Amino acid sequence: MISEGAQSNQILASLPAYARAAKRSLPIDQVAYFLSGAGCETTMRRNTDDLGRVTIKPRSLCPPKNGSTKVSLLGMNMDVPILIAPMAYQGMLHKDGEVGLAAATAAQGCGMIVSAQASHPMETIVRQAPDASWMQVYWQVTREATLAFAQRAADAGYKALVLTIDAPVNGVRDAEIEAAFTLPDGVNAVNLTDIPSPNFEPLRPDESMLFDRIAHVLPDWEDLAWLCANAPLPVLLKGILNPKDAGLAADAGAAGVIVSNHGGRVLDGAPSTISVLPDIAAAVGGRLPLLMDSGIRRGVDVFRALALGADAVLVGRPVCHGLHIAGALGASHVLRLLRDELEVAMTLAGCATIADITRDFVQLPSEATF
Ligand SMILES: Cc1cc2nc3c(=O)[nH]c(=O)nc-3n(C[C@H](O)[C@H](O)[C@H](O)COP(=O)(O)O)c2cc1C
Repeated sequence: MISEGAQSNQILASLPAYARAAKRSLPIDQVAYFLSGAGCETTMRRNTDDLGRVTIKPRSLCPPKNGSTKVSLLGMNMDVPILIAPMAYQGMLHKDGEVGLAAATAAQGCGMIVSAQASHPMETIVRQAPDASWMQVYWQVTREATLAFAQRAADAGYKALVLTIDAPVNGVRDAEIEAAFTLPDGVNAVNLTDIPSPNFEPLRPDESMLFDRIAHVLPDWEDLAWLCANAPLPVLLKGILNPKDAGLAADAGAAGVIVSNHGGRVLDGAPSTISVLPDIAAAVGGRLPLLMDSGIRRGVDVFRALALGADAVLVGRPVCHGLHIAGALGASHVLRLLRDELEVAMTLAGCATIADITRDFVQLPSEATF
């Protein structure tokens, strides 16, 4: 059954209050799907723990005259450098689904990256936030199929394509398996129904499903360069954790890099994103917009990421909490709380604008403890 949401349509006091309420209200298998991580959840925990260990060092007596959180990112004018992360099947959380998230995006002057596995047609979603929507895609078996998806997104009005590269296979998601998670009736990836799937011969006894089969349909850096050269939209790469890969992405013609470990849902044991961000920022050297996600829970986390080199952040699960509790209104309120908290952090730290938030305002834990 598609969730009607928590049915309260109630605005809650804080970001943690939304998180607690959503966890209480969601069915157990959907808690597993939306809120758990891969394996022992080491990486998922590291994301938030490591963010908390970045110390913010305020400057005193700096009134935020002409203060603003506005930025421009790849031609998109935003009131605050926050985008909703692409997340599959939002229709499970609330009937508003991705259409509600897009309405929240427009209401708060944020950006949104729509998942290829969205539960509403991409053309319907983008109408709610026509100037602020990018489309996410996984590699679709062939170059042509991936390009056709990009063309559909461009025709619909999306302004950029985000190719997710960190999940060639699903992570080991114990919680989902234990809770026997399945998609409820009425929720599916409606934008992928016409996409060709690989046509494999039956598996031979000496063949491995992962190594021999799936490896043949996954992209490499040449495919990426081809996509960047041929796609009708700028292409950002989502899922970079290594400075060398950030450099390769720039060389291949990517329009931006998103440092992400998928919120700890894929490779358990991977580093937290905040811990690798400074080296990746150094490797990118301002050549490309640099975004980061995984673990952003409060306005101070946005501040920390910006100080360590991100131009903007993506927010995942907190938006799920808001959507589930109060539909588009709840998602919008979560974004507003993040923005308000960022404004408070900037004022207290002595930064009037986003450009003022520099490396000087934060201190990292020593390498040994990070
Ligand atoms: C339920 C769920 C579904 C997701 N689906 C996708 C997806 O379809 N495509 C994608 O690139 N990332 C997907 N992600 C990863 C998010 O885009 C993002 O990287 C992650 O949620 C950020 O971490 P956070 O939830 O700690 O903010 C998903 C994450 C969650 C929690």
